[in-house]
Amino acid sequence: MHSIQQMLEDKRAKARLGGGSKRIDAQHAKGKLTARERIELLLDEGTFEEWDMFVEHRCLDFGMAQNKIPGDGVVTGYGMINGRLVFVFSQDFTVFGGALSEAHAEKICKIMDQAMKVGAPVIGLNDSGGARIQEGVASLGGYAEVFQRNVMCSGVIPQISVIMGPCAGGAVYSPAMTDFIYMVKDSSYMFVTGPEVVKTVTHESVTAEELGGAVTHSTRSGVADLAFENDVEALLMLRRMFNYLPLNNKEKPPVRRTDDPADRLDFSLDTLVPDNPNKPYDIKELIVKAVDDHDFFEIQPDNAKNIVVGFARMNGQPVGIVANQPLVLAGCLDIKSSIKAARFVRFCDAFNFPVITFVDVPGFMPGTAQEYGGIIKHGAKLLYAFAECTVPKITVITRKAYGGAYDVMSSKHLRGDVNFAWPNAEIAVMGAKGAVEIIFREDKSDPAKLAAREAEYKDRFANPFVAGSRGYIDDVIQPHETRKRICRSLAMLRDKKLDNPWRKHGNIPL
Ligand code: HXC
Repeated sequence: MHSIQQMLEDKRAKARLGGGSKRIDAQHAKGKLTARERIELLLDEGTFEEWDMFVEHRCLDFGMAQNKIPGDGVVTGYGMINGRLVFVFSQDFTVFGGALSEAHAEKICKIMDQAMKVGAPVIGLNDSGGARIQEGVASLGGYAEVFQRNVMCSGVIPQISVIMGPCAGGAVYSPAMTDFIYMVKDSSYMFVTGPEVVKTVTHESVTAEELGGAVTHSTRSGVADLAFENDVEALLMLRRMFNYLPLNNKEKPPVRRTDDPADRLDFSLDTLVPDNPNKPYDIKELIVKAVDDHDFFEIQPDNAKNIVVGFARMNGQPVGIVANQPLVLAGCLDIKSSIKAARFVRFCDAFNFPVITFVDVPGFMPGTAQEYGGIIKHGAKLLYAFAECTVPKITVITRKAYGGAYDVMSSKHLRGDVNFAWPNAEIAVMGAKGAVEIIFREDKSDPAKLAAREAEYKDRFANPFVAGSRGYIDDVIQPHETRKRICRSLAMLRDKKLDNPWRKHGNIPL
């Protein structure tokens, strides 16, 4: 009996050692943690239940029959984050470079299937050289099995990817289909084709970091939601974000008790918006002053900064926040900001987060770059996302809500449940200056006359009361009472029920 127990312990020890102490040292030397160290940091202490520690690959080619390492390059199982269930896989770069074999893929699929059965999120810690070269098409089949499950899980359980090493070729498409991608600066990269292929095909010289590093993807491409300095920071921030998420789409996000009064007033908000309508201000100031404990978890803070999205709580209830940012491009909607916000709104809708929208938008960004880039279709994504969304929707117009952008930003017409405006809001087809230059073109040569027309237009339309008289705005509120009014509205909307008509799926303009 003793020897059997010893054999088990020996086998476990071998699996835990992965590719051996030399490769573990090499991993540490690159500033990276091992697959198991990462899981330890991510999960509550002592909660990890490992599965498939003894799985080995079945490859016989290229000397692989003699080269087997228990676990086969990925550590899988489940555990808790702040007492809440989560499934996890963590690729072990010390074992065949974390490359994905058929058996490695089966391990990932097994926990994804189990996560779907019990309704719990999946977190993937990616650190892999891609397809296991010795296995050929069996490895490609393994990837596709994972891809299929990513799609089946989408909108049912939250899926989060952390890229903590290489992630290249078709391997990028699994993280790409998950809800959020975190990356670690200087040690992770994602690209479809690497720098050598780029050099050969397009003659561009670019480093891996420039092509697909954390900064590139969190600032330029928008592929990554957040970039962190190191593994530890990424994992600790993931634990924080996890606290906002429901375990699956049938649950509501977890409410947390707060000492921040729901009726707290903030009089500094009364002077947030400058008198000059062309002067910017920071919409994040409103967000942090309105939400519980001034705590806002921003998603994609460095990409498309003209729109701000992220999670917060209002009277303990997790919510998704979407806000135009007047500090950047005057808060205009453009291609990138529309895509960023549309995806976030759809996540909120899929996982039962009420959406709070703060509006200060002068319109869509003009220009050939935007038109040639397809702003029509991309802007429509945000419109579509808000319109199909059935979760509680509360909108506060702080200043400008012009033109099509007024309609798009969770307006009453898109089934906004509660639509507020601040007293100085301007809800109109466009700004007064532009409007009179079009409708009173004949007065263009007479600046005094034009100025009078502008004043008249402003007087008539640059306020929230025209919209209010039609019921497009439910109330005009004082800025200082914004939190109180949102919290009350959320309480009223707690049991909101709204269904879209049955269909296989809609056809969002992709
Ligand atoms: C098998 C691999 C491997 C792979 C790395 N290794 N990648 N083994 N299949 N894909 C092994 C190495 O042989 C080495 O083994 C160990 O992992 C560490 O690799 P190093 O090269 O020493 O590490 P490093 O210098 O850090 O370079 C990492 C790397 C490089 C950039 C990832 O290994 C690399 O370029 N690998 C090949 C990447 C690739 O072409 N993959 C297939 C892409 S196609 P030892 O025993 O020496 O420690 C693809 C298609 C997916 O992925 C399609 C899905 C639809």
